[in-house]
Amino acid sequence: MPTLQDLLSTMDYGPSPESQKEAIAWLDQHQRRFGLFIQNTWTDGHDTFATNNPADGQELAQLTQASVQEVDQAVQAARAAQPAWEALGGHGRAKVLYALARLLQKHARLFAVLETLDNGKTIRETRDVDLPLAARHFYYHAGWAQLQADEFAAYRAVGVVGQIVPWNFPLLMLAWKIAPALAAGNTVVFKPAEFTSLTALLFAEMCQRAGVPPGVVNIVTGDGRVGEAIVNHPDINKLAFTGSTEVGRLIRKATAGSGKKLSLELGGKSPFIVFEDADLDAAVEGLVDSIWFNQGQVCCAGSRLLVQESVQTRFLAKVKARMDKLRVGSPLDKSMDMGSLVDPVQLQRITGLVESARAEGCEIWQAPCEIPPHGSWYPPTLITGASSSAVVAQAEIFGPVLVAMSFRTPVEAVQLANNTVYGLAACVWSESISLALDVAPQLKAGVVWINTANQFDAACGFGGYRESGFGREGGREGMLEYLIPLAEDARPAAPLLAKLGQGGAVPHSASELGAIDRTAKMYIGGKQARPDGAYSRPIYGADGALLTEVGEGNRKDIRNAVEAAHKASGWAHATAHNRAQVLYYIAENLSARADEFAARLAAMTGAKDSAREVQASIERLFYYAAWADKYDGLAHQPPMHGITVALNEPLGVIGIVCPTEAPLLGFVSLVAPALALGNRVVAVPSEAHPLSATDLYQVLDTSDLPGGALNIVTGSADELARVLAAHSDVDAMWRHDGSAAGCAEVERLSAESLKRTWVSGGRGRDWYDIGQSAGRTVLAHASQVKNIWIPYGV
Ligand code: NAI
Repeated sequence: MPTLQDLLSTMDYGPSPESQKEAIAWLDQHQRRFGLFIQNTWTDGHDTFATNNPADGQELAQLTQASVQEVDQAVQAARAAQPAWEALGGHGRAKVLYALARLLQKHARLFAVLETLDNGKTIRETRDVDLPLAARHFYYHAGWAQLQADEFAAYRAVGVVGQIVPWNFPLLMLAWKIAPALAAGNTVVFKPAEFTSLTALLFAEMCQRAGVPPGVVNIVTGDGRVGEAIVNHPDINKLAFTGSTEVGRLIRKATAGSGKKLSLELGGKSPFIVFEDADLDAAVEGLVDSIWFNQGQVCCAGSRLLVQESVQTRFLAKVKARMDKLRVGSPLDKSMDMGSLVDPVQLQRITGLVESARAEGCEIWQAPCEIPPHGSWYPPTLITGASSSAVVAQAEIFGPVLVAMSFRTPVEAVQLANNTVYGLAACVWSESISLALDVAPQLKAGVVWINTANQFDAACGFGGYRESGFGREGGREGMLEYLIPLAEDARPAAPLLAKLGQGGAVPHSASELGAIDRTAKMYIGGKQARPDGAYSRPIYGADGALLTEVGEGNRKDIRNAVEAAHKASGWAHATAHNRAQVLYYIAENLSARADEFAARLAAMTGAKDSAREVQASIERLFYYAAWADKYDGLAHQPPMHGITVALNEPLGVIGIVCPTEAPLLGFVSLVAPALALGNRVVAVPSEAHPLSATDLYQVLDTSDLPGGALNIVTGSADELARVLAAHSDVDAMWRHDGSAAGCAEVERLSAESLKRTWVSGGRGRDWYDIGQSAGRTVLAHASQVKNIWIPYGV
């Protein structure tokens, strides 16, 4: 008589296909040909291309490649609809978003099957992950619409938003984009990926049924050229993009200087860290979810396994045993773990990367699963023996391929984890909560999952650090991406530029100065510094007389300043209380020299009320000292047994080009919030009136600010901004001197390392006005949100 064990070992899964009848009927209803969805009506399908089922290569439908004129029509429809949609008010919009959420739930099975047919991902995932999360996003944002008047009273909608998404989570990305945009009162022109547009088109029908007014949601299909037409359209106020870092960078460059608001959710190479005290079996399950979910075509996939050396052999044996059990095949079969890749192009790309690793001597281990003979399938794959700099350890493979490396200590784990240009997500597995919570803040990633993986919720912001992009989707911070503070509208059309003084600012050789060196020094690493190039520039007073000279900073000075700023990383770890104390102390010491500074300002700018500027600067320092220990994060309660802690973390090193006018108050208004939140700063003071900033070194020296936390480099704003924006070790770049061309250049040059930028464009700012120049908006520019997921219980 066979034992139970024998029976189990001979049992296999029978086929368990989900019916595709309804989805096919829906396609047939449309004669398998779709136009564009503009103004709640369908255009005639022309200039079409095929969209295929990747699992069997069969054509599903013909889709329209939108023309530039059609994109323009969609933008015009969105523009015309926007004022009324915003004026409808929070409750009116909430009702529509609620109706959309209900419709997604009601038609969940149709959406799930259609998504699986179009994308190749398993029905298990579309049914249990994509659909519930998409519906939840609409519910959650119906809530924000309802609360808008309470919670975002000082904001308005951005206007018309262009949204472009990739093929890996077609409907979910649509929800992440459209729900917050609509909640905030914007109208949208949305472009799905060319491989996977069908659920967006089904969603268009839901918009008609939910009572979305014509023009509020417009859906245009097609390839990257349609994306480009959206990006370049002059009447779009904001762009939200998810996709490759390469295209994200192109969009950053294309929009530089346009004033369009931008959020980018880009690639990743996320670490999955397993410490020796982890629950190894649970970690294996987490890993399956992390790298083999959606065939690894996930921006936040845990594609780099970092396992502590002491458990490496045991853990990898468990991983291989689990990989043995993974099933790859028909995505509509409910018992499949993995489906098809989205397109043969992806198969080629993944195969190429894995073969390059083999050629480099890495060991490749692939699960011995049965793979359908035709189509784009790739087995679960484990690569070992790769160096941390190998292509497979650095490039986003975007497939079911895990690269494993080992570490010895937590310090080494953090180093390896952060050894990437990306920073989207990370997993930490350890039964020691103190170790996990020590490591999480050190990881440069927008999301950290402790003892769990790939958790998402509308209440918890999602988005990257570094080259994984900027901006957040979900949470309060996600709403702010679609809003503009009303105070921005009150800004003056142009800065109140003070005269540059007589004779221009021609650099002089230091030797021309005569016997006494009257040059005001720069301030680098906590010390006064002479300019590397040994040139200086004259600074004239309001009366045209030469006041003194300042150093003509160059590339080398900026390099030194950035290096000093990085060395001062301790400032980021100082307690918020300490940072507040230092800012109060700076204010106190400035106050002691108030008359001196007022005199200096008067001499430089001729302002009659220079004492007022000094007092306002002292108050601004107090203001940010007050904020330093109050700009707290949040504790979210997503539908999980646990909490998600949203921390406001500093960006790192910020380059700041200060305004020309209000040379002291403008400088303080930008530098103080950056310092308050733990950033280090390389500041370029007012080009015409830098002396109130260079004089500050005496104040800083006596205020306990660690050397390197604030560095001051004088000289040409254009030159120095250029060097800062192109510097790969500068994390963010602000420019507020009213130079529209200079701001555009900063945005363009920042694209290379995808720095966060905050620029004023050609407009001015009233530096005395809290609404225009201070507050939470500024603090948000000085920080990025990291969400740490902490499940608990047993
Ligand atoms: P992609 O970035 O080219 O495409 C994403 C979206 O952008 C699509 O809707 C596409 O039509 C559009 N697009 C393409 N070129 C554009 C342009 N110049 N201007 C505006 N929109 C444009 O990504 P693709 O080609 O689908 O995948 C290539 C690689 O990108 C993948 O192998 C993967 O490594 C990465 N990727 C990362 C994603 C993520 O979520 N982080 C998502 C998709 C791809």
